[in-house]
Amino acid sequence: MQAAGQRLTMRTTASRGAKAGRLASGSSRTARSAVVAKGTDRDIQIIPSVLPADWANMGQCVADLEAAGVDRIQFDVMDGNFVPNLTFGPEMIAACRKYCKTPFETQLMVSQYASETMLKDYVDATKGPNGEPGVVIVHVEACDHLQRCLKQIRELGGSPSVALNPHTPAEMVKNVLCDVDHVLVMTVNPGFGGQAYIPTMLDKIRELRAAIVAGGYDVDIEVDGGIKADWTISQCCDAGANCFIAGSGMFAYPTLKEGCDALRAIAKDAQAGKVLPPP
Ligand code: DX5
Repeated sequence: MQAAGQRLTMRTTASRGAKAGRLASGSSRTARSAVVAKGTDRDIQIIPSVLPADWANMGQCVADLEAAGVDRIQFDVMDGNFVPNLTFGPEMIAACRKYCKTPFETQLMVSQYASETMLKDYVDATKGPNGEPGVVIVHVEACDHLQRCLKQIRELGGSPSVALNPHTPAEMVKNVLCDVDHVLVMTVNPGFGGQAYIPTMLDKIRELRAAIVAGGYDVDIEVDGGIKADWTISQCCDAGANCFIAGSGMFAYPTLKEGCDALRAIAKDAQAGKVLPPP
């Protein structure tokens, strides 16, 4: 298995190759590097958070999200310690696996002790139906030994990702971009759904996208918190994000499919240069 942030992997080379084919000439090289620099060569991924779901029927909920066409499903693990809220553990995530094939991701908003002692349980619970790597997100603020933790997620068969709270500078994760498949920029302070989006995170997204491109790493940028099918997802996409977590912003629609499609359409427009301005 290739190490994550190694220079261009198969997964993106193919999609980039297709785009590159259309951009053979000198000027198109510039156009191409502009595309890469903004991350608009990366697939848009719509990822619901299950916080707003009916927890008494979580299995049916993940099946409904799969039917709505989402790209991944996020489980917010909160331990009442790292964040002032309590949700569920690996058993709940594992119990949902038999209800759908859609990839899972687990965001560990837990203390260092929990993220280190229970890491294998979370990696195993997040895996795909045939053991494919699931995305396991640890917070840089909760890990004194972050690089080791990310390496362990990879060795345990997971896809490592690191999250930054709003106050945490991008600098804190630049040395581990080679160890992750994703970086998660929180656009709210973690712990609750339905909070207002913090618009001052855009520069951090731009800085991370620039560092990823400068290093030639194959890393997605996720944003999470207050993301809606409006200027919030549009601005984040324009800044370089390509994966979008939405809780209330998807569950607010009459159907999950309408929510998913609305988020995806605005993100795709932003990738094509049609960016919605803030109010
Ligand atoms: C907050 C969680 C988010 C939250 C998003 O700590 O990490 O995933 O559920 O919910 P909305 O989209 O409603 O802000």
